[in-house]
Amino acid sequence: MKADNPLILAITAASGIIYGLRVLEFLLENNNKTELIISPKAYYIAKHELNLELCHSNDSIHKNITDFLKIKTNNLKTWLDDELWANPSSGSYKTRGMIIAPASMAVISAVAHGHAETLITRAADVCLKEKRPLTIVPRETPLNSIHLENMLKLSGLGANIVLPVLGHYTKMKTIDEGIDFITGKILDAHKIDNNLYERWHYE
Ligand SMILES: Cc1cc2nc3c(=O)[nH]c(=O)nc-3n(C[C@H](O)[C@H](O)[C@H](O)COP(=O)(O)O)c2cc1C
Repeated sequence: MKADNPLILAITAASGIIYGLRVLEFLLENNNKTELIISPKAYYIAKHELNLELCHSNDSIHKNITDFLKIKTNNLKTWLDDELWANPSSGSYKTRGMIIAPASMAVISAVAHGHAETLITRAADVCLKEKRPLTIVPRETPLNSIHLENMLKLSGLGANIVLPVLGHYTKMKTIDEGIDFITGKILDAHKIDNNLYERWHYE
C-alpha cells in the first residue's frame, strides 16, 4: 500500500456528517490524496446539520466542501454515488482502503450483503475482496439485531467498526473536542498517525 495512493472517503445519510468532514479536513491538511463520495441522501442532512449546501454535481460539491473547510487543495477528487465507472469501482485501482463516516444502517446492510449497486457500496465491496482496510463509523442508536448482525458480519470480514462513542477520561469540555476524539479513533483504526485526542497515560 503506497503512501501516495488515494484513500476513499464516503459520507452517507446518517446523523454526524461532521465526522466525515473532520476526517476529510485532517486528510487534506496532511497532504493525503482523497477521493470523496457523498450519498445523495446525505445532501439534506448536510444542509440540516451544518448549513452546508450540496447538490448532484462534482464541481459544486468540490467547491462547497473546500469552502466549508476553508482549504485549498489539489488532493481532493470527488465522485457522485451513481458514477459506477469511477476509479474506486475497480480492484485494479490501488487505494489505501476506505473510510465510511458516518455510515447509515442502510449502507452497512448493503455492504454486509454484497449489494454493490452504488459507487459507495461497490467501493466498499472492492476493499473487502482486495483485503484493503475498510473503516466503518456506524451512526444509529439504539441498535436492533439486524444492525448488530450486519456489523458483526463486516467485522468478521476484517472491517474496522468504530462507533462514534466518546471516552470521557479525556475530560473534554467542548463538542469540537468530542469530534476530534472520534476522528482520532477513526484515523487510528485506519492506521493513520494523528494527535487529535489526548491518549491515556497512567503516571
Ligand atoms: C435527518 C435524518 C437523519 C437520519 N439519521 C440516520 C442515522 O443516524 N442513521 C441511519 O442509519 N439512518 C439515518 N437516517 C435514515 C437514512 O438517511 C436512510 O436510511 C437513507 O436511505 C440512507 O441512505 P444512504 O445509505 O444511501 O446514504 C436519517 C434520515 C434523516 C432524514
